[in-house]
Amino acid sequence: MGCNNKKRVTLLDKTFEVMIPADQIDRAVEQVAAQINADYADRETPLFLGVLNGSFMFMSDLMKKVDFNCELSFVKLASYAGTSTTGKVQELIGLKNNIEGRHVIVVEDIVDTGESIEHLMRSLSGHNPASVEVATLFFKPNSYSKQIPIKYKALEIGNEFIVGYGLDYDQLGRNLKDVFVVVNE
Ligand code: IMP
Ligand code: MG
Repeated sequence: MGCNNKKRVTLLDKTFEVMIPADQIDRAVEQVAAQINADYADRETPLFLGVLNGSFMFMSDLMKKVDFNCELSFVKLASYAGTSTTGKVQELIGLKNNIEGRHVIVVEDIVDTGESIEHLMRSLSGHNPASVEVATLFFKPNSYSKQIPIKYKALEIGNEFIVGYGLDYDQLGRNLKDVFVVVNE
């Protein structure tokens, strides 16, 4: 029985409590933006490629902190059903840009097992970009089982299931400005 003052929300059959408040997320986004600003200052018009749906809020806040000329676009992948990955990645909206010779920064909400990012990176490298790096808001190091280096990680967490700030539980919770973790009761 947990009795604390943390804000709670209920989504479908689960209760969640605040794990990372909005101001802490903002500071982490600020740090990633500062690294990207330093690394890409001299590169020709980089392309930020967001992975829908989860990355929309991170992408929006990150872009406001990027201080060089850049473009943005999105692809849409799906691999999760409920709170666990299906291990099968579906491409719902494919790449619409010519990325040959371009510097691409893939923007993810969360890298968990790495299945989705591995799939996407393989498909992108076939289009001969000048470079591709990954910027993710959340990283689950204990779950990640791939070799692809994740260069920009705003926040590392354990294997808990989180929602909010773009992340969903069966499509719900994406609008929450704090990040919430499922409560086991
Ligand atoms: P991966 O393919 O296992 O790395 O999973 C990546 C995708 O699974 C993310 O882009 C999310 O959409 C989803 N995902 C992974 N962990 C969570 C979580 O804790 N909450 C909500 N969605 C998650
Ligand atoms: Mg998702």
